[in-house]
Amino acid sequence: MTDLNKPKAKLEALLDIINSSARQAIAEYENTGHGVPSADATTFHPLDSATDTVALKKAIRLLEGAYHQLSAILAPPQHTVMNSVLNYNWACIDVALRARIADVLDKHPEGLSIDRLAEAVNLDKSKTARVLRALSLMGCFKEVERDVFSNTRLSLILKSTNNTGCFAGLHSRDVAKCAAALYESMSDEEFSRSNEIDKAPRVLAFRKEGMIGDYWEMINNDEFHRGMLGLNELMGGSAVLHHYPWDNISSVVDIGCGIGTFSTPLAKMFPHLRITDQDLPEVLLEAQNVWKKNAPEALLDGRVEFVPLNFLEDAPVVGKDVYYLRNIIHNWQDRDAMTILRNIRKAMGPNSRVLIHDCVLLRTVREPEFGTDGLSTAPEPMLPNFGAGTHRSYQMDMTMWLVHNSKERTLDEMKILGASVGLVLIQVYDLVETMLMEFGISQS
Ligand SMILES: C[S@@+](CC[C@H](N)C(=O)[O-])C[C@H]1O[C@@H](n2cnc3c(N)ncnc32)[C@H](O)[C@@H]1O
Repeated sequence: MTDLNKPKAKLEALLDIINSSARQAIAEYENTGHGVPSADATTFHPLDSATDTVALKKAIRLLEGAYHQLSAILAPPQHTVMNSVLNYNWACIDVALRARIADVLDKHPEGLSIDRLAEAVNLDKSKTARVLRALSLMGCFKEVERDVFSNTRLSLILKSTNNTGCFAGLHSRDVAKCAAALYESMSDEEFSRSNEIDKAPRVLAFRKEGMIGDYWEMINNDEFHRGMLGLNELMGGSAVLHHYPWDNISSVVDIGCGIGTFSTPLAKMFPHLRITDQDLPEVLLEAQNVWKKNAPEALLDGRVEFVPLNFLEDAPVVGKDVYYLRNIIHNWQDRDAMTILRNIRKAMGPNSRVLIHDCVLLRTVREPEFGTDGLSTAPEPMLPNFGAGTHRSYQMDMTMWLVHNSKERTLDEMKILGASVGLVLIQVYDLVETMLMEFGISQS
């Protein structure tokens, strides 16, 4: 057996992981019957919009984790540290999004000269070219010939119609400002030790702009709901439609449903289900409009009802089979998360289930004695939590902190939350970037 304590053996093992995971990813693309994506692709691959990408994401988690670890070992340390700081891609993406550069290039698949592009978006041409060249290092936009740029499969994400692009814009424009206030929020006397939502770094950052107010009142708009669609596309949340046994249940409550990002496709895939959408009253009005457009048949058949709810104050509708919460618990500090779960617990029948669907932070050290609760652990010599392979989960944890003073949790933290209101974890569905945690009423 290879001795992974030897530095060279570690490098070889990482290379093997890179090789096998890349081959697995290639196989996943080929299984679609559409071949692998090309480096010059200017359209999406069908797998880019598939609702179940769990197998591809598993391979990519290994690939991203192993190659970042390998490169951090072999590169001079100055490189790796400064690569994180000398990274203005977010600002360049912000420019591309706001100027709608990808929309303009979309009309010119063969490429557009920087003169005409800059004129179309009303920006300086040499500055615009510098932004595009910086992004083209990662394959986002391409200089097809000198001073002529075109879209790529990656820059299509930045079109104004793309939901992930919308989510990117919320970060590059708003969350970036909150991040700039992180140290101040950690050292400020009033903010540093508080877990309250009104002491989030966002509050400090936006106070400077004269904006004070309840986050949920500030954001109830089309951009936020599209951003939520983008978040779910990014994290592969729709895999839940394929991996939970929906055939075996008959009623589902989507708590904090937003505009029904989860429940409309659920109604389409499983027409036998009775669905209740619950959210704040003004959000439910928007949700009904979206249902009318996207799933009118479910409305006509009376398979869906809309019941306003403030989940911090009241219990949801009673006695349903499943109470589903996606991207909800991570928005709230422990006290409020417990209140939400306690209110749901009041509504549950003896066999009801609560499904919490969020990112879960994996263990950072190997602790075989504690078991894994069904969660994956990376093979050695990778970090047990896949290192950079779980980059987005750890950055989402930061987003939750910056915006809500809340957090992504470990499975142990989720179990403690559940236990505090009489719920016990029954099963975990590992959807790679998100986890579905099924809780039932504790018998003890
Ligand atoms: C992050 S979004 C998640 C939306 C949806 N579950 C999804 O995954 O796309 C959080 C949702 O919680 C809702 N919400 C916030 N505070 C609430 C409250 N006190 N009672 C009920 N819903 C609330 C918001 O309106 C928003 O739709």
